[in-house]
Amino acid sequence: MEQKNKYRAIKAALLISCVGFAPMALAGASAEMLANNCVGCHGPDGSSLGPASPSIAGDVKSNFIDIMKSYKSEGGRFSTIMGRIAKGFDDKEIELLADYFAAKKEAPSNQKVDKKLAAKGAKIHKKTCKKCHADPTEDDIMLNNQMKEYLLYAMHDFSSLDAGKIASKDVKKMVKKLKKLSAEDRKALANYYASQK
Ligand code: HEC
Ligand code: HEC
Repeated sequence: MEQKNKYRAIKAALLISCVGFAPMALAGASAEMLANNCVGCHGPDGSSLGPASPSIAGDVKSNFIDIMKSYKSEGGRFSTIMGRIAKGFDDKEIELLADYFAAKKEAPSNQKVDKKLAAKGAKIHKKTCKKCHADPTEDDIMLNNQMKEYLLYAMHDFSSLDAGKIASKDVKKMVKKLKKLSAEDRKALANYYASQK
């Protein structure tokens, strides 16, 4: 519990430090104007530079739309902050944003990785995660190139959920798998994904 609170506090502080956060959709706003609400946390052109937010550049359009709609819905995708942010945008605006970020190329995050840990992570990934996190052209959510810290936060957050209360079958499966991993395993996975372009 204490550990959980510590994570929350650090993550909240990191998010507050994101610059230019003003969730405000203007009527008839252009895609670029809408995207200005996102780049403070998700980085210029959607390639995250900070540790607390994922990159969204080059995300498959249909995935992006599904994710944003799920953030908006009651009992939808787990989030610390996106649930609130997504509610500020209607379907048309979400589509504009999806097109805008899908057209961007994700910049390499160039993180320092521990090669030994990354090799260990590759094995765990293959056995435990690959089934759902492998193919960017499918519905899969790509974890490659994401910031290590973000990955660790996300794994921590998901693994603290109560699997019995999760509606999505896939997420329920994942949460059960994540709960079985040690802190070292998670670190290995984060190093592996960070090492992948
Ligand atoms: C204050 C920081 C912040 C702002 C502003 C923000 N995001 Fe996010 N975003 C996050 C965080 C943190 C996550 C991870 C989920 C969570 O914990 O809420 C995330 C997750 C996402 C994801 C899922 C990505 C993935 O790979 O899982 C999408 C898509 C996304 N945001 C789109 C947007 C869009 C579009 C905007 C602008 C309209 C935006 N975000 C504004 C912090 C932010
Ligand atoms: C049965 C399918 C499945 C498996 C197996 C699975 N995941 Fe996931 N994962 C998902 C889904 C679906 C999401 C999106 C979460 C949501 O919609 O709330 C996700 C989201 C994530 C996220 C958040 C990323 C982001 O950008 O939003 C991380 C990190 C993650 N998974 C790591 C892992 C790791 C590490 C493993 C292996 C130990 C794993 N997953 C195994 C389906 C799976």
